[in-house]
Amino acid sequence: MLEAVPSRTAYRVALRRAAHQVFDDPLVFPDKFALRILGLTPKDLRSGALRAPARPYSRSLRAFLVARSAFAEETLAEAITRGVSQYVLLGAGLDTFAWRNPWPNLRVFEVDHPATQQWKRELAVQHGMPEAATRSYVPVDFEQDDLARELRLAGFREDLPTLFAWLGVVPYLTAQAFHATLRFIANHVPGSGVVLDYGVPRALLSPEEQLQHDSLAARVAAAGEPFQLFFTPEQMRSTLVEAGLDPMQDMNRDAINARWFRDRLDSFEVLGSGGHFVAAFRKESSRSLVVISTGAQ
Ligand SMILES: C[S@@+](CC[C@H](N)C(=O)[O-])C[C@H]1O[C@@H](n2cnc3c(N)ncnc32)[C@H](O)[C@@H]1O
Repeated sequence: MLEAVPSRTAYRVALRRAAHQVFDDPLVFPDKFALRILGLTPKDLRSGALRAPARPYSRSLRAFLVARSAFAEETLAEAITRGVSQYVLLGAGLDTFAWRNPWPNLRVFEVDHPATQQWKRELAVQHGMPEAATRSYVPVDFEQDDLARELRLAGFREDLPTLFAWLGVVPYLTAQAFHATLRFIANHVPGSGVVLDYGVPRALLSPEEQLQHDSLAARVAAAGEPFQLFFTPEQMRSTLVEAGLDPMQDMNRDAINARWFRDRLDSFEVLGSGGHFVAAFRKESSRSLVVISTGAQ
């Protein structure tokens, strides 16, 4: 991504989380700070802050993004019952969890590209966000910096079980940065794990989805953040296993829709099959292996 410029994709994702609070009922991912971090009101959104929010493609992307955040925070809630006491957001963007953190003993580390993190801090001041006492900011470029060192300097404890959330980041990384970061995660103490999402290679998509993929790929490339990294479900699974992790869940579109969008009357759901969610924990963890769904369609 561009060195000195805040992430445009972080802004777009945050805008969609904000739009969800205004346009979708019932909410899949309630986020009382989603509008405030952006300095937006519901009226701003209704009068066009997000273009064409009712279009099927826009709704589907929004559904994917809010389900992804719900997935991370539901996995976190469950991991906390098993002793996780640190939450590391890798590529945090404008995620507002730190302001909503209901667990006073959970330490939150927000890792992000320095330019994006600085911008977030400025937005937080500008829009009067409250203090978030449990959060530490950790500026890191995954392509260049030593993540372990920077986290240590910020007070991260290597002896405490930790959940890492890597949402909307993997496709933008080089293979080298991805594997280096995954090694760091996988070597963390037992009970630790990661939630991430990844995209399947274009060739696995239907012709119509390939067109949508191309349009999104062109837009993120124009924003200076080109897609670089894709995995088939089998590649992701073997990569995680080789790193020493148990891929407990790999959720495709059908699994995502069954979990978060079943029985809705407004047909708000994920349409495209290109994105998957994964939760993987250290092998020594006592949980049994549950694979909800693999196999791209
Ligand atoms: C699509 S946004 C997702 C943000 C956030 N996780 C969310 O769900 O709202 C991608 C994020 O990855 C971060 N990112 C991309 N490449 C990075 C790199 N090389 N080092 C650090 N952060 C990076 C961007 O700064 C941005 O915050």
